[in-house]
Amino acid sequence: MFDKIEELLQEVSSFNGTGKDETEQFRLKFNGKKGILNDLFDQFKQVPNEQKKEYGQRINTLKQAVAEKLEALKSASETEGTVAKEDLSRPGFPLEAGTTHPITLVKNKINEIFRSIGFEVAEGPEIEDDWHNFSALNMPEYHPARDMQDTFFIEQNPDVLLRTHTSTVQIRHMEKNEPPIRILAPGRVFRNEAISSRSHCIFHQIEGLYIDENVSFADLKQTIQFFTTELFGKSKIRMRPSYFPFTEPSAEVDVYWGLNSETDYRITKGTGWLEIMGCGMVDPAVLKNVNIDPDKYSGYAFGMGIERIVMLLYQIGDIRMFFENDKRMLDQFRMV
Ligand code: DAH
Repeated sequence: MFDKIEELLQEVSSFNGTGKDETEQFRLKFNGKKGILNDLFDQFKQVPNEQKKEYGQRINTLKQAVAEKLEALKSASETEGTVAKEDLSRPGFPLEAGTTHPITLVKNKINEIFRSIGFEVAEGPEIEDDWHNFSALNMPEYHPARDMQDTFFIEQNPDVLLRTHTSTVQIRHMEKNEPPIRILAPGRVFRNEAISSRSHCIFHQIEGLYIDENVSFADLKQTIQFFTTELFGKSKIRMRPSYFPFTEPSAEVDVYWGLNSETDYRITKGTGWLEIMGCGMVDPAVLKNVNIDPDKYSGYAFGMGIERIVMLLYQIGDIRMFFENDKRMLDQFRMV
C-alpha cells in the first residue's frame, strides 16, 4: 500500500506535460472526483488502526505534491502565453539619463582649474577627532573660535565629531607629506545650524593649501585672481583683513561682480562686490603642530563654500534646493 503511494509520488514529480490537454488529464487523474486522491482518502477507513497515522501523512504529502505540480504547470503556461503575445518589434521603454548635480559640476570645474596649476586633490574622513578639526588648527580647547562652528559630536564623546570644515585635510596631509605641498580638498562638512534659506546642516567646502619655501601673500593673491578669472570670468578682486585661527594674516576675498543688472544689485546689496572665500598665510603654530619647520617653510591656505558659488553661478536663490532632489530643478543642468 505504501509502495503504491510512493510510486504515485514519483509519477507526480516526474510529470512534465506541456500541453493544456495533458495537464488537464493529469489533474483529473489525481484531483478529479473519481481521481486517485479521493480514492485513497476513501480507503482510509480500511487501513488498520496502527497504520492510519502514516497512511494519512503519506496521502497528504501526495496531495500537496499534486497541488504544487499543478500550480507550477499553471504559471509556466501563463508566462508562455505572454511571451507569445509580446510584440518584439515594439520600441523599448525610454531610459532617462541622469544629470550631474550642480554641486558636483562646480566642484569638478574648480578641481580642474587648480589642477591646471599643479594642485592635486586630497581627501580626509568626515568623522574626525578634536585634534584635526580644532587643536592642530590653532584652536585649543576653550578657544572662542570653536563657537564659530557649531559642532555635531558623536555619542557624547567630545573627541569624535563630524568635521565642521575641510581644513582638517590640511593637517592630515601635512602630517604625512613633506613640502612642497599643493593640494585641493573638496568635501562635505557638517554644522549644527538652523536650516534656513541661507544655511544648512550639511554642505560642501573646498580647501586649498600650498606650502613651500618663500611662499608669499602675493602668491596667494595671484592664485586666487587666476581662479576667479577662470571660474567667473572676473579678475577684479579685493582682500579684506579678517581673522581665522589657523592663518596669519587672514583675509576674506571679494570678487567684483559688477552692477549691470537688477540681480547684480540685489545679490551684491548694491555694492557690486561679493564675498567668495576665506584665506591667509598658514600660521607658524599650525606648521609646528605637523612638524614642518616654520623658519624654512611658509604657505597659504584658502577655503570656500561650494553651495554659495553654485548659487552665484546659476542664480539659485535658496540653498535647500540642492538637497530636495526635485527633478525639475536638477534637469536644468542636463546640458551644462
Ligand atoms: N575653515 C574656514 C571655515 O570653515 C574657511 C577657511 C578660511 C579655510 C581661511 C582656510 C582659510 O583655509 O585660510 O570657515
